[in-house]
Amino acid sequence: MSIDATRAHPERFREAIGTEEVRQLETRLMGATNLAGLYYPEDRSAGGYVLYGMAPDQAALPLAERLPPTPLRHYYGFRDGRYVDALYLQTGHNDVTAMRRILTEDGFDTMGERVLEFGCSAGRMLRHMEAEAQANEAWGVDLHSAAIHWAQAHLSPPFHFATTTSTPHLPFEDGYFGLIFAGSVWTHIGELDDAWLLEMRRILRPGGRLYLTISDETTLEEVARVKPDHASNGHVAELDAATGMLSRDWIAFVTRSTPWLQRAVYRRAPWVDRIARWMEPKVVRPKSYGWQTAVLLEKRA
Ligand SMILES: C[S@@+](CC[C@H](N)C(=O)[O-])C[C@H]1O[C@@H](n2cnc3c(N)ncnc32)[C@H](O)[C@@H]1O
Repeated sequence: MSIDATRAHPERFREAIGTEEVRQLETRLMGATNLAGLYYPEDRSAGGYVLYGMAPDQAALPLAERLPPTPLRHYYGFRDGRYVDALYLQTGHNDVTAMRRILTEDGFDTMGERVLEFGCSAGRMLRHMEAEAQANEAWGVDLHSAAIHWAQAHLSPPFHFATTTSTPHLPFEDGYFGLIFAGSVWTHIGELDDAWLLEMRRILRPGGRLYLTISDETTLEEVARVKPDHASNGHVAELDAATGMLSRDWIAFVTRSTPWLQRAVYRRAPWVDRIARWMEPKVVRPKSYGWQTAVLLEKRA
């Protein structure tokens, strides 16, 4: 069924809804990396989707022990072929501690600030910021709607969550947040990198901080050294075979496509120099989130 046929035969289109033809059209639409406004929808294979509240066994647990189902963990806490709950909690705690250390070094106090985790998944990091959530608002957004729905049912209150899309816009007013952080999200953003940075700047208050992590040349070296059989080494080699980039002066590249699978890599110095025109770089620290480099930026007053 072509789009033209849809226009010419609206009745036929109505009948087609729910058929394999329409499902295929929708799959093609969601995979269209040149379109904006995409998000990962809930599974509708049962003819729709249903949201449930917290199960009684979960409701009895303290916040710190309510854990998302493994498909929502994005491989965090995955070791030797299985998910380890304690490791999922520990990695989130470690990544927040590393961020706090950098913020403290910069003299920035998070208490009393409105906080946003951009690309929060099921709240692996945000769950360790309960004090900030109690003192003010703490939000998490992601384009993975199932992860956001789980977080809304299990971690809210005290946190707030919303599903957003791949379009570089978030539903918050100018200057709303004092701190925005994004662990391993810029690593998936690619072409929309600049537009997303400018959107973060819009919703930060003057003097607010943006903490994000990037993959750069150090990340590439570390992954190749520590995990030579890691699939991402193969993706870089493939792109190099097609372009010869590694023997040239590359400043950024992206392997594969779609928000989850694609991997954006930046050469650190030119990337920081470029964005320094829009925000003030305060700290740049390699290997602060696993193999990734942490960057702390301030919105100029
Ligand atoms: C590697 S995971 C990191 C999850 C989380 N930040 C953490 O540290 O646990 C990357 C996350 O970014 C989300 N993401 C990627 N592009 C996004 C975008 N444009 N807007 C919102 N979320 C995005 C993905 O859905 C995924 O949950």
